[in-house]
Amino acid sequence: MRVLVTGGAGYVGSVSVERLVEAGHDVVVLDDLSTGHAAAVLPGVRLVAGSYGDETATAALLERERIEAILHCAARSLVGESIADPARYYRDNVAGGIALLDAARRAGVGRFVFSSTAAVYGIPDATPITEETHSGRSTRTAKRSEPSRAPWAGTARPTACAASRCATSTWPGRASATARSTNPRRT
Ligand SMILES: NC(=O)c1ccc[n+]([C@@H]2O[C@H](COP(=O)([O-])OP(=O)(O)OC[C@H]3O[C@@H](n4cnc5c(N)ncnc54)[C@H](O)[C@@H]3O)[C@@H](O)[C@H]2O)c1
Repeated sequence: MRVLVTGGAGYVGSVSVERLVEAGHDVVVLDDLSTGHAAAVLPGVRLVAGSYGDETATAALLERERIEAILHCAARSLVGESIADPARYYRDNVAGGIALLDAARRAGVGRFVFSSTAAVYGIPDATPITEETHSGRSTRTAKRSEPSRAPWAGTARPTACAASRCATSTWPGRASATARSTNPRRT
């Protein structure tokens, strides 16, 4: 399958690219390199520098590369910055996410996986967290809104959506080590 990985030069995205290539998929990375590193992208994988929030350019990229699925790992996720400049986070993560979903719809891409976070559960009453666990209080507005927004994007065309709620920061690997080396604390 031809997969676009947004944020593929970042920590989660770069490891995901490695796993997708290992599994035999053709991968294209879209990353604005704001916190990511070109060196973290697996050699041989095409890196397109740009923002997923640019709906027109992203739709053109999806069509040009005949993308069949999107793994959305790009985000702003620095805790301190999000508190100092929340508007930027709403604009980039929430409005940008809508632009990406609209680009996917325009290009006819029907598969979408969102890199969410276990932080949506807050402090759960019990662990391990299961599919039945209710999400708790969280300041992660994009995380709480996007999984429910994604199916809405499919009203004009059926869209398979999923949210991957990652809870680890310790994946080993060449690319993740590169990305992690300058990665301040995030949730
Ligand atoms: N690191 C973790 O352990 C962890 C845990 C749970 C959830 N997550 C989630 O996974 C996602 C990625 O986290 P990360 O730790 O890999 O962050 P990261 O900063 O390492 O990677 C994000 C990537 O997105 C890129 N990017 C940012 N805005 C962009 C834009 N508008 N257009 C294109 N590219 C853009 C950055 O340059 C960077 O390469 C986030 O949504 C985060 O909340 C991460």
